[in-house]
Amino acid sequence: MVGFQKSAVVVLVSLIISLSINHSEQIQSSQGQTLIRIQHLLNNPSVLSTWNSSTDFCSLDPTSSVSVVCYQDTITQLHIIGNKGRSLLPRNFSMESFVTTLVSLPTLKVLTLSSLGLWGSLPGKIARLSYLEILNISSNFLYDTIPGELSSLSTLQSLALDDNMFAGELPHWLGSLPVLSVLSLRKNMFNGTLPDSLSNLENLRVLSLSHNYFRGEVPDFSRLTNLQVLDLEDNNFVGPFPLCLLALPSVTYLNVGSNKFTGMLFENQSCSGELKFVDLSFNLLTGHLPKCLHSKKTVISDGNCLETGDDQSQKPVSFCRNEALAVGVIPHMKNREGRSSKAAIIALGVIGGVVGGIALVTLIFLLVRKVSASKEIKKYPTRLILEDASTGYPSKLLQDASKVLQFHLPSSMFASALLFDDTISIETERMTLLCS
Ligand SMILES: *[C@@H]1O[C@H](CO)[C@@H](O)[C@H](O)[C@H]1NC(C)=O
Ligand SMILES: *[C@@H]1O[C@H](CO)[C@@H](O)[C@H](O)[C@H]1NC(C)=O
Ligand SMILES: *[C@@H]1O[C@H](CO)[C@@H](O)[C@H](O)[C@H]1NC(C)=O
Ligand SMILES: *[C@@H]1O[C@H](CO)[C@@H](O)[C@H](O)[C@H]1NC(C)=O
Ligand SMILES: *[C@@H]1O[C@H](CO)[C@@H](O)[C@H](O)[C@H]1NC(C)=O
Repeated sequence: MVGFQKSAVVVLVSLIISLSINHSEQIQSSQGQTLIRIQHLLNNPSVLSTWNSSTDFCSLDPTSSVSVVCYQDTITQLHIIGNKGRSLLPRNFSMESFVTTLVSLPTLKVLTLSSLGLWGSLPGKIARLSYLEILNISSNFLYDTIPGELSSLSTLQSLALDDNMFAGELPHWLGSLPVLSVLSLRKNMFNGTLPDSLSNLENLRVLSLSHNYFRGEVPDFSRLTNLQVLDLEDNNFVGPFPLCLLALPSVTYLNVGSNKFTGMLFENQSCSGELKFVDLSFNLLTGHLPKCLHSKKTVISDGNCLETGDDQSQKPVSFCRNEALAVGVIPHMKNREGRSSKAAIIALGVIGGVVGGIALVTLIFLLVRKVSASKEIKKYPTRLILEDASTGYPSKLLQDASKVLQFHLPSSMFASALLFDDTISIETERMTLLCS
């Protein structure tokens, strides 16, 4: 009797073990299939060239561009970082299907998909990855607004959307993400004023909003005692420069350059002992640089109306006073050096596609050329014929690209230019950089 019980227990235990092994193998293989599908949807980028259907993804050696991390056989981290200057994925790419595939890895906590040529709007269903802690989809061609569904990601610690074409105003709910510590939105087309709710993000360590079209006054950040990096460069912020920013207890990097901050600085102003980099340049500041900045590593203050003893780098006080009065009346046109690169990549990406699709992009190229007029152009397509044609990419993408250059195309007219030259020689300095 005892013997029978023993053997029954043995059978039962081995049955359970074999079932669970099968189960975990199944999980692994279905996740492996998902990764293979991701590889396919990303158009087999060279960084994934070692992936195939028999790869054991959980035991792959991580590289600087690709890594898969598993916990008990389920994938918790996925990092895919393509090559810099990666062009657009082809027109049959669908961000919608891509994210539908991604969310079948529901245990993902960390997701980096950078420089992969992703284009389209970010589907809200990405929030089905409900354990996400870090989302980094920088250096792609994603547009439209941040989907509201992201507000449900209560464990989100880091959101990096840098170097895309996201637009619209920042949603108020960003300030309600309970553990957000990194919000990095550099080089997009966000506009409007910053929501006051950002001042509630007491865990925030990094707030990078440079190179967007934000405007208005900045919220009161004095409660952000963990903030180490504050980058507001190159927007249209106005109002008195909040002196408390210099004294935030943790701040090491403060960049408010190329805005329209006004007000007077005093020598006796105090600063955080942690400060290593301060850029106040090209604002409308008057007065004297605080003494506490003198000992700091890097302080950039030119293009204001400060009394620094270096008259060359500063403007007369009357200039700042007059400009300060005019702020809000005269819209501030920006010279977007860096922006043309995104449009250029789109142009090259589309040109790189099917010849028939050269289209509108040539117009954009010509605009890029205009924008980069200061750079020498040795050769450019000489024979152009304008005609109606479609590039196959959504007009939204091309319109955004043209908006990057602050040029408006009539949406009805998708004029295209066919190039008869065999080669497209784009030899501005910038473009050469992009292509290398
Ligand atoms: C897109 O089209 C190319 C051929 O132009 C094809 O090789 C590729 O598999 C297609 N991608 C998808 C995701 O359908
Ligand atoms: C799959 O990739 C592994 C290395 O990751 C390689 O050893 C193997 O030969 C490949 N199998 C096929 C079918 O290509
Ligand atoms: C996002 O990923 C890119 C590529 O790995 C990296 O360079 C960048 O620092 C990341 N951004 C943030 C905010 O972590
Ligand atoms: C912000 O941009 C969006 C879309 O790009 C536009 O519809 C909206 O009017 C802009 N808002 C402001 C305040 O400029
Ligand atoms: C700093 O100096 C200004 C004028 O030089 C003075 O009005 C102000 O009271 C001083 N502030 C402190 C905290 O000493």
